[in-house]
Amino acid sequence: MDTITRPMTEDDLPEAGRIIGLAFGTFLGAPDPATFWGDQDYARTRWLADPAAAFVAEQGGVLVGSNFATRWGSVGFFGPLTIHPDYWNGGFGQRLLDPVMALFECWGVSHAGLFTFAQSPKHVGLYQRYGFWPRALTAIMSKPVRSGQAEGGWERYSALAEAEREEVLRACASLTDRIYQGLDVAREIRATQAQGLGDTVLLREEGELVGFAVCHCGAGSEAGSGKCYVKFAAVASGAGELARFERLLDACEALADARGMERLEAGVNTARHEAYRCMLERGMRTDIQGIAMQRDNEPGYNRPGVFLLDDWR
Ligand SMILES: CC(C)(COP(=O)(O)OP(=O)(O)OC[C@H]1O[C@@H](n2cnc3c(N)ncnc32)[C@H](O)[C@@H]1OP(=O)(O)O)[C@@H](O)C(=O)NCCC(=O)NCCS
Repeated sequence: MDTITRPMTEDDLPEAGRIIGLAFGTFLGAPDPATFWGDQDYARTRWLADPAAAFVAEQGGVLVGSNFATRWGSVGFFGPLTIHPDYWNGGFGQRLLDPVMALFECWGVSHAGLFTFAQSPKHVGLYQRYGFWPRALTAIMSKPVRSGQAEGGWERYSALAEAEREEVLRACASLTDRIYQGLDVAREIRATQAQGLGDTVLLREEGELVGFAVCHCGAGSEAGSGKCYVKFAAVASGAGELARFERLLDACEALADARGMERLEAGVNTARHEAYRCMLERGMRTDIQGIAMQRDNEPGYNRPGVFLLDDWR
């Protein structure tokens, strides 16, 4: 039977979304894998953000799996990669890694990585073949949102005028560039705004942008019902960075509260030791633990002293 890999189209989204839930539900041993997935959405949000970076594999005209690549300036990562359980170990996962590796090449990213299940020799073995090596654990953490929080001391990207938005995107890119050369998540800020997935919290000191957090809120985003998920956050390094990071986390919680969310979720690579410790000290608890695998075993921005949140899921 003919097997092909091709770019995803809008018509593929329902089936691709169904397979994502089924594949994870089956792998994790959920009692009813078909209903395991909640109402968080990865397929539509990522396809809309960059349709040319989403791929499906088909056999005999039947969709069997999908994969999504993300470009954050000089950094690339991929996922979720999922294959329908009936087709596992048939080489489809590899077929969906090939176009993503080609895309990384074409984008010229200097750092590439992924998040996967640390306990699975199959997963780790599969990605090692593509030059990714296991490094530190990544903790996906959460806490209940404190209600009735005072708002203030931070701004929302959504409240800015168009001209100000461009300036803020540049300031965000310059902030992340100082953490890892060329790291730029403008596409996440834009996608969150354009798709109505949540908002981006902005923190300033003496007028200068010193921190930001891209937050997804509720059903249909990557957070799911009742949750505010910090997809990416970073503060400027230098004097007072820990206090700045705490202020940013407070602001994320205030946004979550203002939007009626019950839990705040964020992922942190544990190699960012101080950030991880700060999250623990604030009462965040780990719900999911995975591992970051990084191309050529390079640390990228997963290193001590970096106050940044993301998890590459
Ligand atoms: C993970 C997943 C995408 C892989 O897709 P797949 O089509 O089953 O993978 P492939 O058949 O292309 O490759 C798997 C390879 O791992 C190898 N493998 C299996 N167990 C292994 C082990 N213990 N050590 C090393 N390699 C192993 C297989 O032999 C196979 O290689 P081969 O083709 O040379 O035999 C799929 O199993 C899936 O959807 N899982 C559930 C969702 C998920 O976990 N997604 C990934 C999140 S990071």
